Amino acid sequence: MSRNYPGSDDTQPLGLDVGTSRIVVARNVDKTFQYEAQLNAFITLPYSRLTESLMLQENVCHEVQGSEIIVAGNDAEKFAEVFHVETRRPMLNGTLNPHEPHALAVIRQILGKLIGPAAKKDQKVLFSVPAPLDDGAGNIAYHEASIRQLLAELGYDATPINEGLAVVFGELGGSNYTGIGISCGSGQCNACLAVLSLPVISFSVPKAGDFVDRHAALATGDLATRIRVEKERGFELNGFTGDRIQNALTVYYDEVIRDLVAALRQKLSSADRLPKLDHPIPLVLSGGTAVPKGFLERFEKTLRSSQFAVRISEIRLSSDPLYSTARGALMAALC
Ligand SMILES: Nc1ncnc2c1ncn2[C@@H]1O[C@H](COP(=O)(O)OP(=O)(O)OP(=O)(O)O)[C@@H](O)[C@H]1O
Ligand SMILES: [Mg+2]
Repeated sequence: MSRNYPGSDDTQPLGLDVGTSRIVVARNVDKTFQYEAQLNAFITLPYSRLTESLMLQENVCHEVQGSEIIVAGNDAEKFAEVFHVETRRPMLNGTLNPHEPHALAVIRQILGKLIGPAAKKDQKVLFSVPAPLDDGAGNIAYHEASIRQLLAELGYDATPINEGLAVVFGELGGSNYTGIGISCGSGQCNACLAVLSLPVISFSVPKAGDFVDRHAALATGDLATRIRVEKERGFELNGFTGDRIQNALTVYYDEVIRDLVAALRQKLSSADRLPKLDHPIPLVLSGGTAVPKGFLERFEKTLRSSQFAVRISEIRLSSDPLYSTARGALMAALC
């Protein structure tokens, strides 16, 4: 079921951020952008007629598969607490999780809830995909083709857009879409240097929010889920304190920033031909992992600590870091 906003044209293009932890849609409603998100997560419950009828009564996003009921999206987290089960994820490090047989069915279910069938034939949608990792590992081609197919089944004309480039579209209109866009998400950090909206260098680094949660959990003996909740509750990157979770988060956040800056430095300095840039270019940080206070300052300090292949005019944090990729995908779709 596609959303009907009063007085709006819901046949407009859509921007979709297919992220490891959340799927976000951006819509152009009367010239303002509106966002809606669902967790990219699910739980399975043993099938019973009673459970199914309760799900129906409560309007819960679910699907029956053989002897299981799959609850997907935001409802998954709610019911995970009720039934004391762990949520699972259809994606891992930016692409479909190869170890999760329910992956496609879950994303199909979430897309059905979030955007529903196209409001007109071949309605345009741009969806984000990560850049390849350095070692070429990963299954990006399969991931991309599978998401495109799910969207085609719903009647959309779907085109992928690199996540870093989407950030450039979403954030750097003021510099004619020239600069560096970075999304620090949960599975990966994605970066793109673009000139006049054309991607010159794109890459991803496999350390982001999930890496921080997992390693801080190993260090403190807590569950990664608890670490994530603490982190999202107001973690600040401001050095060591008396709190062991805060200290563990700081250590692994530092590692994410160090790796990201090192990759940025290496990619730019080893590029065969960097475009001639007359002016210094801006760099924008976005994504949930860039949200904590102190992230921007720590990133800037690390980047400016030694030579960099291009001159940077400013480093800033997106004003809307959780929606930047979806917004950029929508802006690119509207171009
Ligand atoms: N307020 C917050 N403070 C700290 N971290 C946060 C906050 N909100 C979200 N995060 C973290 O940001 C990450 C999710 O960010 P985002 O939604 O940008 O990722 P994603 O797009 O789903 O993943 P990816 O781009 O890697 O596929 C998670 O690790 C989450 O814990
Ligand atoms: Mg993302």
